[in-house]
Parts: sequence; C-alpha cells; structure tokens
Amino acid sequence: MSNHDNVPVKYAYKGANLISFGTSIKLLFTGYLTTIAAGYIMALIQILFTHGMADGQFGLSLNDIVYSYYGDRSGSVLESKLNGSMKYNAPDEERFKIIQWVRDGASEQEYNTTIKAVVDQNCVTCHNADAGSLPDFSKFENLQKVSESSHGATFQSLTRLSHIHLFGISFIFMFVGLIFSFSTGIPCYYKYPAIVMPYLFLLIDIASWWLTKLSPHFAWLVIVAGFGLGLSFAFMWCVSMYQMWVLGGIRKQSDRRNAILRD
Ligand code: HEC
Repeated sequence: MSNHDNVPVKYAYKGANLISFGTSIKLLFTGYLTTIAAGYIMALIQILFTHGMADGQFGLSLNDIVYSYYGDRSGSVLESKLNGSMKYNAPDEERFKIIQWVRDGASEQEYNTTIKAVVDQNCVTCHNADAGSLPDFSKFENLQKVSESSHGATFQSLTRLSHIHLFGISFIFMFVGLIFSFSTGIPCYYKYPAIVMPYLFLLIDIASWWLTKLSPHFAWLVIVAGFGLGLSFAFMWCVSMYQMWVLGGIRKQSDRRNAILRD
C-alpha cells in the first residue's frame, strides 16, 4: 500500500481518521467493536428466548411484544386450559363452575365451599404433589396462581429495565459513535444521522415499552425502534472496520514516534 493514489477516499492519509490511525489504535478499536458485536448477538438471542416464547410459540412476533409488556388480559391460564387441552378432564357443568369462579376473582372462601371438591375430584388425579412438572392443584395457592390474568411487565421491572438500558446502551453507542466519527469520506447526510439515530431510537425504544404497557397498539413501535437501533449499529460497525482494515491496510512503519497517526 505504498501507492496512495489507490485509496479512493480524498485526504485519506491526512489528519486523524480511521485510515491513517496507527495499528495500535486500530487494534484497540477493533477489539472493542468485535466484543460489542458479540454482545449484540447475545442480546438478540436472549430476546428470542425471553420475549420470543411469550405467546407460547418460538420466534418473535407482534403478539410476543404485546404479551410481554401489555400482558394477555383475555383470560387466565386456567380458563384457557379448561377450554383447551383440559377440556375433557371434567364434565361441562364442573368446568363452568371453575371458570365462573376464576371470573369472579378466585376467592378462597368460594374455593373452600365448592371449588375444592370439584378440583379434587377431576384434576388432582394428575395435578398432585407427586406429578413433578405439573402444578399441584390440591393447594389453593397453586390454583390461584394460574387463575390470574397476565398484566405484562410490572411498573417496577419496566423502570429497572429502562434505566439500565438508557445508561448501558448510550455508553455503548458513545464509543461506537466516537470510532465511527473518525471515518472519512462519508457524506454528511449519512454520517450525522448515523451518529444521532442510535440515541433517538433508544429513546423511542424505551418509550415504546411504556406505551405498549398502556396500549397494545404500540407493539409495532418496539420492533421499528429495535430494527433502527440494529441498522445504525451495523452501518457504523461495517464502515469503521472497512476503513481501518481494507482501505487502511497494514503499512510498514519505519518511524514510530507518532502514536496516534501513521508516519
Ligand atoms: C389426565 C391427567 C390430567 C387431568 C385429569 C387434568 N390435567 Fe391439567 N394438565 C395435565 C397435563 C399433562 C398438563 C400439561 C400439558 C398441557 O398443558 O396441556 C396439564 C396442564 C394444566 C394446566 C397448565 C399448567 C401450567 O402451568 O401451564 C392447567 C391450568 C391445568 N392443567 C388445569 C387442569 C384442571 C383445572 C383440571 C381439572 C378439571 C385438570 N387440569 C385435569 C394433565 C391433567
């Protein structure tokens, strides 16, 4: 790479930029970008396993996001099972008694007077203490747990997640953006938005969690913001790596007095 005319970027070897940086700085930046990219992939896998399974099916869908933040308020696990895979384990009038009890608020008093007998007779043959993975319905608390309808993420968990994400992710994009801002030859109308967009999408992303908790209609906003965040990350990552190692190449350095710039 002794022939500078091969470099398509104007002024590429002048001043402090990703092409002209010394190898030690490039290695430092590359180490950071590589580790952060691995972290990003892990985060995506984690999302797939937590939110992706929220609607009971693998893979991320709009429903997953609604269930995660807004909850499934259409009913409880108990009611949907009694209308689904547990339908034939009790005669209809017994099933309706349990469903009515759930809809009335699953009180312990009514459980003791009528529901316990119904459950003991129809369900506890399978749902008992020895059943292993199945919930033990001979205990009131276990039945009560599946009778609650889900209200999604709690206020506390959202506040906790929001502040961790705001602090943590803005820190990540501080350094990714700083490295990328040393890129050269990128038109301003790509460069400036790429630096600002992660922060904008981060704020929209966090806001969309809270909005989705209020109304399921905002679930698409979570996807749009997450996609935007990923896109600007990928753009800055690829441009930085390309300029450092492809355009920059590795030149022999005879004089190493300059730590920042290549001689
Ligand atoms: C023949 C055995 C059997 C009987 C009787 C039975 N169940 Fe189940 N139940 C299962 C099995 C197996 C599962 C797990 C598979 C599934 O979810 O369909 C299950 C799952 C459930 C679940 C979901 C638990 C969870 O944590 O996801 C609920 C709720 C439930 N049963 C309620 C009942 C009720 C109420 C009755 C009585 C009317 C009943 N079952 C009777 C075998 C039984």
